[in-house]
Amino acid sequence: MADTGAKSRMQVLVVGSGGREHAITLKLLQSPKVDAVWCYPGNAGMAQAARIPELDNDDPNALVEFAAAEGIDLTIVGPEGYLAEGIVDAFRSRGLCIVGPSQSAAQIESSKVFAKNLMEKYGIPTAAYRVFSEYQDAKAYIEEMGAPIVIKADGLAGGKGVVVAEDVETALEAVRVTLSGQRVGEAGRRVVVEEFMEGQEVSILALCDGKTCVPLVPSQDHKAVGDGDRGPNTGGMGAYSPVPVVDEALQQKICSSILLPTLEALHKEGIVYTGVLYAGLMLTEDGPKVVEFNSRFGDPETQALLPRLKTDLAEVLLAVGEGRLGSLPPLEWDPRPCVCVIAASQGYPGPHETGFPIRGLDAVEEMEDIFVYHGATALQGDEVVTAGGRVVSISALGDDIQGARDRAYAAIEKLDFENIYYRKDIAWRALDGKKGD
Ligand code: AMP
Ligand code: GLY
Repeated sequence: MADTGAKSRMQVLVVGSGGREHAITLKLLQSPKVDAVWCYPGNAGMAQAARIPELDNDDPNALVEFAAAEGIDLTIVGPEGYLAEGIVDAFRSRGLCIVGPSQSAAQIESSKVFAKNLMEKYGIPTAAYRVFSEYQDAKAYIEEMGAPIVIKADGLAGGKGVVVAEDVETALEAVRVTLSGQRVGEAGRRVVVEEFMEGQEVSILALCDGKTCVPLVPSQDHKAVGDGDRGPNTGGMGAYSPVPVVDEALQQKICSSILLPTLEALHKEGIVYTGVLYAGLMLTEDGPKVVEFNSRFGDPETQALLPRLKTDLAEVLLAVGEGRLGSLPPLEWDPRPCVCVIAASQGYPGPHETGFPIRGLDAVEEMEDIFVYHGATALQGDEVVTAGGRVVSISALGDDIQGARDRAYAAIEKLDFENIYYRKDIAWRALDGKKGD
């Protein structure tokens, strides 16, 4: 049969409902190779741009059945929960193409004990640590080490599993409430007690197909809720890319001392890593060290990276899914920096009110080189309303970081909802001229 070109028009499924998934969706829709994008569960922005399937439940098998029935050519998974549940294994067992790690590979994020033990065994630079399941044992170690010290729940905790303790009492209390299940439930059955590292944090995401590793440009998240990196940690309040402190030589070093050794270590343990490997790094005086690994795209890092990507994302991700990354030419990036600021609901990451109409979205969307990515939004009739903590990401390209930041803030000022809150200082480390902090 003659090639009708039908296969070159892909149907893609994006799993998730945050700004990260909306950014991936909009980028995929720019590809001439993409016919339709489906999003599940999606949000108001994804419902406007793409199609939302009606499924009875969101377990991986329901998604597999949908993808098989609809002839989905490529599935991209945003949130870690699905990966830890084994969505990639479920898709692959039906011969469906999916971007993400298997359940066993996803342990690099879903178990901090797994990740730390792997790094220790293979000499990958990270903070010194011990693992505990008994309070008294942890107490003795913490008292010996002193503060500051970091307490981490082993399992997935939705960003609530880590306490950076300034004093021993706080550390002991964190261990107590974590091990007792009060803090993050079962995820806290074991804790990692870790040396405090000083330095600037940076996120390096890499695409991996089991043979080839292609790092993306560096980005930096802002985890704390308040300006000056104060207050409790969130999922991330903004991001920017590139990160001036990460020059070409440092990128090479991160690749040769962290990314490649980690993939090789997993391989030696019988695990082939595919999908996105996200290394959260601390740039310490002794060089880059791993703070954590994630098994997926970062949110909001993705919203600061994708506006800069010039290469067709659908082609790249299909190559990841099909194990052909090595045959692709190098990724092309817009040299202009991108700054992403997140408009959140006041009170997040604690309790916050939702259901407020969002005004000004159209005006912002009309601005050139400004990108509006919905997070926790919902449609109420024709109206877009707030539906959670991180509501909308606004990303801006600019001639330099200052320019991109000014444009992002000029855009976000046009947005309004009743309890809008955003940080006013995204990218401050780059603009302060701080080089190692
Ligand atoms: P994680 O979920 O492991 O990335 O931890 C959340 C945040 O806690 C990180 O982004 C850091 O800001 C901070 N953190 C985690 N581990 C350490 C550490 N060993 N030293 C200093 N800060 C840390
Ligand atoms: N930005 C942090 C994360 O995606 O986990």
